Amino acid sequence: MNRLIGALFLMSVAGCVGDYQPGTPGTPGTPGTAPRPPGPAQMTEGQTVFNNQVKPEITVCAGCHSGGGASQGPKWMGAAQTDWYLTIATDARFVNVEPASSEIITKGAHYPDAMGKMQAPAISQAGKDAVVLWVTTEAKAWALPKKPVLQNFASKELEKFGNCMQLADWTSTGMNTFQDQSTGGDAGACKSCHQTGLYVMLSADATANFNAFKRPQYVGKLAAALSFADGSFRDLTAANRLRDRGIEAGHPPYTLTQARDTALKNFYDLTYQRYKANMGNCPP
Ligand code: HEC
Ligand code: HEC
Repeated sequence: MNRLIGALFLMSVAGCVGDYQPGTPGTPGTPGTAPRPPGPAQMTEGQTVFNNQVKPEITVCAGCHSGGGASQGPKWMGAAQTDWYLTIATDARFVNVEPASSEIITKGAHYPDAMGKMQAPAISQAGKDAVVLWVTTEAKAWALPKKPVLQNFASKELEKFGNCMQLADWTSTGMNTFQDQSTGGDAGACKSCHQTGLYVMLSADATANFNAFKRPQYVGKLAAALSFADGSFRDLTAANRLRDRGIEAGHPPYTLTQARDTALKNFYDLTYQRYKANMGNCPP
């Protein structure tokens, strides 16, 4: 991950400031016209503010939120750094008619480790000011969408999914031995590296693991939220991080045994069915 941040940092040195050309006043959009995502072809004033002021403040977020190497958080920044502007500018959670409501600002410190210490920082005050300036600049050029009513809805649904998880299912499906799955070479079983809950909680203690997976920082390894184009919540689906991390590059390789593959699927299905049956409201 550090290597990724390093690479992104190097890329950011080559800025686009020199390409900036003042647009023709009044075109192509004035506030109140139909929403128009900013076009990548020409450097707009908003894009310049983003590149010069916002980008340096969110580079610290990229290790978890941008690109294929970022395995810990949702990819709200997009893939390569060249995608950040368009990806973020067209997401109503971040750019809408209420600049200070941008979730980049409101998110705050997050992602607690097993000890409750926040691993992800809040954006700096300079960053908050830059985001407000940026969104305000965008509002001059095109009609921004409304603030989404269902902000944070996805993470709330994942929390509800966590509440619907039951220890009895963890045991009956066989998820209670998941930590014993071995990896390739001599890297050992999951529990040899994930004992403390760093990245994922797969310790020798099955009940501790279950309790950890119920919590917001790990439940996303089991379930993922699907959204509609406007960012509102659609449904949950299996995230399969416990299966897929083994077949992606950069981690000790592993292929789940058939029994564990089935255990993971069955545990997700049982919990999802309970989540649906209770319309999301299982008692915590
Ligand atoms: C160490 C990894 C890490 C870093 C660094 C990090 N985050 Fe996060 N972030 C996460 C994780 C994990 C989640 C999902 C759980 C949650 O919502 O708390 C998340 C979720 C989010 C979300 C919700 C996105 C969604 O699609 O639901 C936003 C917004 C966010 N982070 C903003 C930021 C900002 C802004 C920064 C930098 C100032 C940052 N994060 C840095 C790990 C990180
Ligand atoms: C030799 C040490 C080691 C072993 C053994 C190991 N891991 Fe990891 N794992 C890591 C490290 C380091 C990271 C953080 C960087 C990364 O994502 O590759 C990680 C991250 C993860 C993540 C979080 C990233 C994501 O994409 O959600 C998951 C899930 C994971 N491991 C699952 C497993 C499973 C399942 C096993 C056992 C089959 C296992 N690991 C065995 C070292 C290990």
